[in-house]
Amino acid sequence: MVSSRGFLSWLIFLFIGILGFIPFPAEAAIKKYQFDIQVKNVSRLCHAKPIVTVNGRFPGPTIYVREGDRVMVNVTNYAQYNMSIHWHGLKQYRNGWADGPAYITQCPIQTGSSYTYDFNVTGQRGTLWWHAHILWLRATVYGAIVIMPKQGTPYPFPQPNMEVPILLGEWWNTDVEEVEKQGTEMGLPPNMSDAHTINGKPGPLFPCSEKHTFAMEIESGKTYLLRIINAALNDELFFGIAGHNMTVVEVDAVYTKPFTTQTILIAPGQTTNVLVLANQVPGRYFMATRAFLDVPLPVDNKTATAIMQYKGIPNTVLPSFPQLPASNDTEFALGYNRKLRSLNTPQFPANVPLKVDRNLFYTVGFGKDSCPTCVNGTRLLASLNNISFVMPQIGLLQAHYFNISGVFKTNFPDKPPTPFNYTGAPLTASLGTVHGTRLSKIAFNSTVELVLQDTNLLTVESHPFHLHGYNFFVVGTGIGNFDPAKDPAKYNLVDPVERNTVGVPTGGWTAIRFRADNPGVWFMHCHLELHTGWGLKTAFVVEEGPGSDQSILPPPKDLPPC
Ligand SMILES: *[C@@H]1O[C@H](CO)[C@@H](O)[C@H](O)[C@H]1NC(C)=O
Ligand SMILES: *[C@@H]1O[C@H](CO)[C@@H](O)[C@H](O)[C@H]1NC(C)=O
Ligand SMILES: *[C@@H]1O[C@H](CO)[C@@H](O)[C@H](O)[C@H]1NC(C)=O
Ligand SMILES: *[C@@H]1O[C@H](CO)[C@@H](O)[C@H](O)[C@H]1NC(C)=O
Ligand SMILES: *[C@@H]1O[C@H](CO)[C@@H](O)[C@H](O)[C@H]1NC(C)=O
Ligand SMILES: *[C@@H]1O[C@H](CO)[C@@H](O)[C@H](O)[C@H]1NC(C)=O
Ligand SMILES: *[C@@H]1O[C@H](CO)[C@@H](O)[C@H](O)[C@H]1NC(C)=O
Ligand SMILES: *[C@@H]1O[C@H](CO)[C@@H](O)[C@H](O)[C@H]1NC(C)=O
Ligand SMILES: *[C@@H]1O[C@H](CO)[C@@H](O)[C@H](O)[C@H]1NC(C)=O
Ligand SMILES: *[C@@H]1O[C@H](CO)[C@@H](O)[C@H](O)[C@H]1NC(C)=O
Ligand SMILES: *[C@@H]1O[C@H](CO)[C@@H](O)[C@H](O)[C@H]1NC(C)=O
Ligand SMILES: *[C@@H]1O[C@H](CO)[C@@H](O)[C@H](O)[C@H]1NC(C)=O
Repeated sequence: MVSSRGFLSWLIFLFIGILGFIPFPAEAAIKKYQFDIQVKNVSRLCHAKPIVTVNGRFPGPTIYVREGDRVMVNVTNYAQYNMSIHWHGLKQYRNGWADGPAYITQCPIQTGSSYTYDFNVTGQRGTLWWHAHILWLRATVYGAIVIMPKQGTPYPFPQPNMEVPILLGEWWNTDVEEVEKQGTEMGLPPNMSDAHTINGKPGPLFPCSEKHTFAMEIESGKTYLLRIINAALNDELFFGIAGHNMTVVEVDAVYTKPFTTQTILIAPGQTTNVLVLANQVPGRYFMATRAFLDVPLPVDNKTATAIMQYKGIPNTVLPSFPQLPASNDTEFALGYNRKLRSLNTPQFPANVPLKVDRNLFYTVGFGKDSCPTCVNGTRLLASLNNISFVMPQIGLLQAHYFNISGVFKTNFPDKPPTPFNYTGAPLTASLGTVHGTRLSKIAFNSTVELVLQDTNLLTVESHPFHLHGYNFFVVGTGIGNFDPAKDPAKYNLVDPVERNTVGVPTGGWTAIRFRADNPGVWFMHCHLELHTGWGLKTAFVVEEGPGSDQSILPPPKDLPPC
């Protein structure tokens, strides 16, 4: 049941929704935000606990901008943790200083300090999001970014009556930093979250959580644009609404060919915009989200719910429940991802690189290091091309820009050192990995194809990879080992989906292409926080071009020192 508090939050939400429609000035504007990083006691499942927030809010404030705007966010850190904020999916052309991953493009904003992220929103419109990019703090430090199209440019789909951000997340009853630390000390995966959440609220299926239910009111005949964001740390999620279809129109701030579905699949880091038509018998309908995991590992199968309620329907009516695929439904996952295509119209073309200058092939694997103090005498690790990434002590971008030697090497291999039957029988012997801060150097404006290949080192698993500074085209994907002789012939080079985060299927591969026209140091990592922490990450050093507008911008004066 939605209590008066639930109703209040709905009212506040409605207000925020309406705010999204306040007409923006026609000219590009400067949008200024103040983000105070504060610890606040927040209650969810039965008791309150202190969490790190932005401006005391959970989830944090939505950033509303228009394509072409300049955004300045002054982040002031009043918490005891070091902080940095990533603007997930913003391309940050020549401007890695505003990208945010700690020790990759900046040193953290230390307690008592401020840093202003200053960036232009160029050539992008749609839903993105922001989140902490240090430790596991993004568990509570995240929010939506809504980029409206330029004035006078309509959506390439029917104008919705209302827009609502839907942020999916994970909630721990204890301090997430303690959870992370305990996992590292044991050398094992840390405790699973205690709940999934929708707009920060778990919904009535959890203990003491009835009043922590997100609800939105809808009206018959109206169309709603849901801007869905997966802000969970470690779970790919299904999301559906009882009785209502969803029409997918955009992912990761790129328009798609519309298609209708009852469930979407969304990996951590990804966004999906759907249209929902209120065309059912007026009543109360659950929205629900639950994890997808198609390997025999413990699955975090707790279901978060929220409510869509037709206007005039009392809170006493029992909501109906959506049917979600089984948590291990591989066929659904593969089929859903196959439906995603770029819109590819003259106005929104898919500029897929047809010729490739640089071919990269990276294997994704797990490993174990000896760790005498750990539970099993070993610590779990993850690697790309058998290299587990070691975090540096200063920002890689600074080291690159100021030519500071000894911070990283640019000898990341273009292919695995020893080819093997990647997805054959499970490999459990000699699981050691090499450790290093090794990057790959990419020539300016070259076209890159990267095949990410899952392996059965310890276990196969699905991995959502996120590339900073770029969108890429997902030109191919498959199950088993990538075959360089046969698979490229099956690529989609016409209208592949364009995005910034893509799932590598369990025991399979994904091929992406992009043009390296954004100079800087750009992080690439699995967006499952657990795997990132284990070393499943690297970065590209994209060289500068000869033109005056093809070099890295000078660093801002307030860039945090180490
Ligand atoms: C936060 O809540 C806990 C549990 O209710 C309480 O013990 C603690 O004093 C509170 N802390 C603050 C700063 O309010
Ligand atoms: C950022 O906010 C802090 C705290 O309010 C303030 O001291 C600082 O001057 C602000 N920085 C800028 C550039 O406005
Ligand atoms: C953003 O655009 C403005 C106006 O064109 C320009 O002066 C500024 O340098 C740009 N900032 C960045 C970080 O690219
Ligand atoms: C993890 O879960 C175990 C078992 O429920 C519990 O004893 C432990 O305190 C939890 N760790 C943290 C950091 O919450
Ligand atoms: C949902 O879409 C399916 C397939 O397009 C269609 O058969 C069904 O009638 C739709 N349901 C609703 C509630 O619109
Ligand atoms: C969720 O997982 C638990 C433990 O793994 C299992 O007992 C339960 O049946 C699962 N529930 C669903 C709905 O799959
Ligand atoms: C999915 O899980 C169900 C129940 O947990 C199990 O019976 C089924 O065999 C699994 N399917 C696959 C394809 O693993
Ligand atoms: C670690 O030890 C636990 C408990 O002894 C065992 O259940 C588990 O399989 C081991 N895990 C690994 C990855 O070796
Ligand atoms: C790889 O392993 C799979 C499963 O064990 C097997 O079917 C396949 O033949 C192997 N491929 C090669 C090239 O050895
Ligand atoms: C990874 O590197 C370690 C240490 O050099 C080695 O023992 C192991 O065989 C390598 N594994 C693979 C899959 O290349
Ligand atoms: C990059 O290369 C393409 C194709 O050769 C060319 O059209 C484009 O102008 C180049 N871009 C820059 C920024 O040099
Ligand atoms: C915060 O960041 C600074 C600069 O990198 C570092 O020296 C310090 O140890 C960090 N503090 C903590 C608590 O991690």
